[in-house]
Amino acid sequence: MKFFLDSAIIDEIEYALDAFDIDGITTNPRHVQVSGKPFITVIKEIAKLVEGTDKTVSVEVNPHYMTYEEMFPEAEKLAGISPNFVIKIQCVEPAFKVISALAKKNIRVNCTLIFSSMQALQAMRAGAFYISPFIGWKESNAEETQSWIDEIVTIRDNYGFDSEIIVAAVRNARQIVDAAVVGADIITAGLQVYKDGFHHPYTIEGIGKFANFWDQTSYE
Ligand code: E4P
Repeated sequence: MKFFLDSAIIDEIEYALDAFDIDGITTNPRHVQVSGKPFITVIKEIAKLVEGTDKTVSVEVNPHYMTYEEMFPEAEKLAGISPNFVIKIQCVEPAFKVISALAKKNIRVNCTLIFSSMQALQAMRAGAFYISPFIGWKESNAEETQSWIDEIVTIRDNYGFDSEIIVAAVRNARQIVDAAVVGADIITAGLQVYKDGFHHPYTIEGIGKFANFWDQTSYE
């Protein structure tokens, strides 16, 4: 399973690349706004961090764009900035034509804001490189999501679609493990979700106990 960092904060991305060898980065307009930098500036800075690697950076087309005529040229322009970029296109009806036209030009798309298996299926049919079902938002709405991700994985495997499934808007380690159990390819989460997930209080307690015994024993 690949771990992506959901962030546009340079320090966080550098940390996660160094400490956890994360496999890619996903950004969205909220992350870019939080970075406090202009969109193009920050995505170029992120591209520099992964230059020469196969790690992808998902960058989102202006969410005001709702037509093929608006989305396609913007996606092409963004894709030209870095070979690491995968272009995020929101999952609305005109997106499917955009995804398929971009795929023909070997421009990879991350079809984002997916909230149903039907949207996922059509994005895969259109040739999306990644599809991003958002689980955190659905769970905030009291919807169960593990069986939903399982359904999308099954559909993908039934027909041999090439799309990789990014489980997105992940809020905790349980959700990561649930996604891994049903065979999702990738999860994307914020830095703190990983840090919390890799930590266990029993490990710290155990270190304390063992350190105590260590201190009462001679080395040689
Ligand atoms: C995924 O690609 C999105 O950037 C992300 O997971 C959206 O969720 P959030 O901004 O609510 O965390």
